[in-house]
Amino acid sequence: MTDKKRNAKYGAQTNLIHGGTQRSQFGETSEAIFMNSGYTYDSAEIAELRFKGEQEGFIYTRFGNPTTKMFEDRLAMLDGAEFCYATATGMAAANTSLFSILKAGDHIVAGRAMFGSNVYIANDLLPRFGVESTIVDGRDVSAWQAAIRPNTKVFLLETPTNPGIELVDIKAVSKLCKANGITLIVDNVFATSILQHPFELGADIVFYSATKLIDGQGRAMAGAVLCNDEEIAAQVLTYIRQTGPSCSPFNAWLMLKGLETLDLRVQQQTRNAETVADFLYNRKHIKNMLYPFHKSHPQYKLAKSQMKGGGNMLAVEFEDQATAFKFSNALELILYSNNLGDTKSLICHPATTTHQRLDEEFRQKLGITAGLLRLNVGLENVEDLIADLEQALAQL
Ligand SMILES: Cc1ncc(COP(=O)(O)O)c(C=O)c1O
Repeated sequence: MTDKKRNAKYGAQTNLIHGGTQRSQFGETSEAIFMNSGYTYDSAEIAELRFKGEQEGFIYTRFGNPTTKMFEDRLAMLDGAEFCYATATGMAAANTSLFSILKAGDHIVAGRAMFGSNVYIANDLLPRFGVESTIVDGRDVSAWQAAIRPNTKVFLLETPTNPGIELVDIKAVSKLCKANGITLIVDNVFATSILQHPFELGADIVFYSATKLIDGQGRAMAGAVLCNDEEIAAQVLTYIRQTGPSCSPFNAWLMLKGLETLDLRVQQQTRNAETVADFLYNRKHIKNMLYPFHKSHPQYKLAKSQMKGGGNMLAVEFEDQATAFKFSNALELILYSNNLGDTKSLICHPATTTHQRLDEEFRQKLGITAGLLRLNVGLENVEDLIADLEQALAQL
């Protein structure tokens, strides 16, 4: 559980630096890395009490670890959540959120524009275990409503979406959830709680790929599941304890240190992305540019009402794949990579990488056209990024 008193006493940036810190007997300034799998007990009786849950303390790193707990508590403070559980990857977090609360006979509704692996879980994996799924256009609140069935247990959405930069109205969708006893799960990877607070907008579970902006430096994989409901938290914890999607303490330490600079990085990368969006908008060869805080975005008003900034991700669409490839190959500073959230600017072609396993018709529905590129704007000098984009455009 989060240290509420401390949360209220200090500002968000202070909590990102100090939140959750538990010093060992050595009084280290930077948090310690506890690289251990097991724990010793002073007696058999104490071990029994710990296993019964009648005495606080760690048992086994698959269940919990001091370094991992510092990361969980710090992230929980940022999100304003009671409970947070770290996982090995973002997909382990997505999987844990769904499998810990669903059972055969349930039905889920998912926004169609999502990271490819989220689509796989909803569309292919869950039906194999007797959970039906309906995929809707997440932008259309009435489509969410129309998809509700008596056995609908979960709404799953991502906003802004990867890679189409579409938005879902979290508040409007959460109202439907509240009225129908549905659990709302939000993948908050693109915005992070620096720019968007899904719990304040009505989410029940929020999950992250910490691999992205939380680490922010392309070093390690991790994820996290957050919630405020004690019953959901117990189900998530049991699922993690028994099935083992747990986070390595070393990776948790990297994420803990990543959180210290998250606000600064996200704010500056957002400023850079705004400048890049202004530069790319209406340029020759560019058919479409999507950035939540650019006036040309079809959901600009929604973006302004539910986000504090447009984030560091944008999408650019060229006429066809050949032009998109030529442009991305011509970039010198911006690297070609399917990762995102990094301080290094990265570009990729989702139709042939992250979303290549989806069939062509479904990809078209998601707006993942052959000419679409996804751009992760990093922390470089923005003038250098513009110069790189300009020289690549000049080669088309
Ligand atoms: C929106 C979104 N959710 C989840 C994930 C999965 O995260 P991970 O790669 O850490 O498993 C990603 C990865 O790109 C993502 O972009």
